[in-house]
Amino acid sequence: MRDKHQREINYLRVSVTDRCNLRCRYCLPPEGVSLAPHGEILRLEEIERVVRAATLVGVRKVRLTGGEPLVRQGLARLVSMLAEIPEIDDLALTTNGTLLASRVRELKAAGLKRVNISLDTLRPERFSWITRGGELGDVFRGIEAALEFALHPVKLNVVVIEGFNADEVVDLARLTLERPLHVRFIELMPFGPAEEWAKTGFVSTAQVQARLEATFGTLTEVRKPAGSGPACYYRIADAPGTIGFISGVSGHICSRCNRLRLTAAGKLRTCLFSTEEVEFKRPLRSGATLPELAELFVQAVRKKAARKTAPGGEAMVKIGG
Ligand code: 5AD
Ligand code: SF4
Repeated sequence: MRDKHQREINYLRVSVTDRCNLRCRYCLPPEGVSLAPHGEILRLEEIERVVRAATLVGVRKVRLTGGEPLVRQGLARLVSMLAEIPEIDDLALTTNGTLLASRVRELKAAGLKRVNISLDTLRPERFSWITRGGELGDVFRGIEAALEFALHPVKLNVVVIEGFNADEVVDLARLTLERPLHVRFIELMPFGPAEEWAKTGFVSTAQVQARLEATFGTLTEVRKPAGSGPACYYRIADAPGTIGFISGVSGHICSRCNRLRLTAAGKLRTCLFSTEEVEFKRPLRSGATLPELAELFVQAVRKKAARKTAPGGEAMVKIGG
């Protein structure tokens, strides 16, 4: 359906768990965050029901996120349940990649179409530091497995931070020269622990692009299909892969926002920077029909703001995550 700002809302991001097997410094405080008790998290059947209701208002794309979605029990079963919904034509997963290699066969068989994998650095010791103990080799194995099982386009998400990984943007972009990998540079958004990082470490899309062009020459813009989200894509001449930029802070991407988010605890959010939520768990558990759930989507879409204002007063948007 269209919202009142004429945006076609056709994309639902579903957080299947708030747990994660890593502790990235810009995402989580060292002590972690308080997690919702098990019974508060939507069951797989409940998630499926919400997605079915969402198709009644025009949702056609679903992305499973977390936390880390691969730590959720029964993820492949959920994928197969969602793959059976005829209206859903795109079913994707955002993952840190560390648990992917051993699961990819099962996920592909269940009907998963594609994956986005976070990859902030190519240096094992850096990776271990930023994630507080993760193994970079596990992510590489996950990326290889995604290519092997043709979960195309395989997208790699890089959050660029000065003093942390900004010196690696050229090396990361080089990944697109050899393989059909789509390396996307994401502006750090100042929320949670990232607020501190952003004070001195923020790097804009324009800065990353300038650094890449100093090495590779002018990047050629790749036209992207309509409704393909906030990234802008470029290609180094003759490369099989592409380079993307997601300007969540410097860009004006709200006008192209096509998404809603379902939290693991069953609340629908219209924007990451909004506290506006529509409660789905209670109606689900008291037997709401699919049309009744669809009506909740209509209400949520009505509330979707044109763009979001962050606490600091600046216009903010959300991408990745
Ligand atoms: N700004 C930008 N991207 C972020 N992510 C997590 N926190 C932030 C932030 N503050 C990204 C992760 C991953 C995806 C799940 O969201 O790096 O790619
Ligand atoms: Fe986990 Fe992703 Fe957060 Fe890192 S950024 S702690 S991988 S959810």
